[in-house]
Amino acid sequence: VFVRALGVFGTLQPSHARGGDVVPLTVDGMLVRATMMTLREDPPDLTSPQYARSVLVRVQAFSCNYRDKGCFRTMQQVSSRRFRVIGSEFSGTVVAVGVGVASIAVGDRVIGQNAYAAPGATREESRADVGGLPTNGASREYLVLREHAVARIPECMPFVTGAAFGVNAQTAFSMLRRSGIRAGQSALVTSAGSNTSLALIYSLLRHGVRVTASTSSPSIHPALLALGVERVLSTHALRASACDAGAHLPFGPIEVVFDPFFDLHLDAGVRSLVHGGRYITCGVAAQNAHVAAQLAGQSADLAAVMRRVILYNISVIGNCLGTAADLDAALAAFADGSLTTPIDSVHTGENSHAFLSRTFLDTSRFGKVVFAYD
Ligand SMILES: NC(=O)c1ccc[n+]([C@@H]2O[C@H](COP(=O)([O-])OP(=O)(O)OC[C@H]3O[C@@H](n4cnc5c(N)ncnc54)[C@H](OP(=O)(O)O)[C@@H]3O)[C@@H](O)[C@H]2O)c1
Repeated sequence: VFVRALGVFGTLQPSHARGGDVVPLTVDGMLVRATMMTLREDPPDLTSPQYARSVLVRVQAFSCNYRDKGCFRTMQQVSSRRFRVIGSEFSGTVVAVGVGVASIAVGDRVIGQNAYAAPGATREESRADVGGLPTNGASREYLVLREHAVARIPECMPFVTGAAFGVNAQTAFSMLRRSGIRAGQSALVTSAGSNTSLALIYSLLRHGVRVTASTSSPSIHPALLALGVERVLSTHALRASACDAGAHLPFGPIEVVFDPFFDLHLDAGVRSLVHGGRYITCGVAAQNAHVAAQLAGQSADLAAVMRRVILYNISVIGNCLGTAADLDAALAAFADGSLTTPIDSVHTGENSHAFLSRTFLDTSRFGKVVFAYD
């Protein structure tokens, strides 16, 4: 069968390049030679014992995120004759199941189940079906996945939304749960334009939390205020407040800081908190040498941060993805209409260049960028 996929070619030895007509783009200093491709593959036989607990999904839509940048980095060291299929999230329809599959049926509409070992998980649980994202090649039109690596989506969720939903909503619901924040309390959400932070903002507002947001993208201030965020400030103003111990903070007391980039906001975040506050983070901006060089000299004074953490009895919490129950709760919230996932744009056909530039390079993006197969 012929299977569509979004592939990225290596960048070494360009004189022998395959995909020679690909228009490259540069993401975080990395050359990205990507194209929609058609692969010829033998269809898997799901009646064979090796697939007893597997399902075959026909992908309808997919999206990319920070994880795909890891593949871009790898491809800087790979011959231009070789390629790798990318994509972090998908939605699709189950078209076949293995003989031992009990929880999923042909015709089910599914997305990836990104459950990651919860704190306190046993060693077996950590190894088994809680390994995080089920695939790094979510754009492959047909995916064979373990039964527990997919989650059913409600009828009311379009495939485009499904392909944009899981990682952000599951992570946001985990961070909310683990932060212990309650209705009426105040939160600061940093890098509000990131998809993780947008999922956090929607989830916090739904729980009756008062939200202050910071962003380096002035163009999204009105959209954030329209969502119900009380106050939007620039990342620059937030970080400046951390540099001056005597400075008046440009907002009121904050009980919890939610931060997707600890290397950008740890010091300002901790300084924003009340006594006994919580700072929770899920990521780092300097994920490659290019961004690390751009941010050189801007990292927090760890001793000053820890002095503050101790004197103010602050809890610092790390968070990776969420549990299966977090995704279930997020899907239920979507189904009852109390949670939304903003979609920036939907791309189709052959134009992977527009899809990737909007995903990774366009600062006016607001929400997820999705590629849909027709
Ligand atoms: N561990 C986990 O399980 C997990 C799960 C989800 C996400 N994450 C982490 O969360 C982070 C966000 O992921 P995402 O997919 O939501 O990202 P995204 O949507 O691509 O985020 C882009 C936004 O992040 C901010 N940003 C990124 N790099 C920056 C820089 N160098 N300087 C200033 N601002 C910068 C900007 O926000 P503004 O325009 O608002 O300033 C930018 O618009 C990543 O670090 C990722 O690793 C981790």
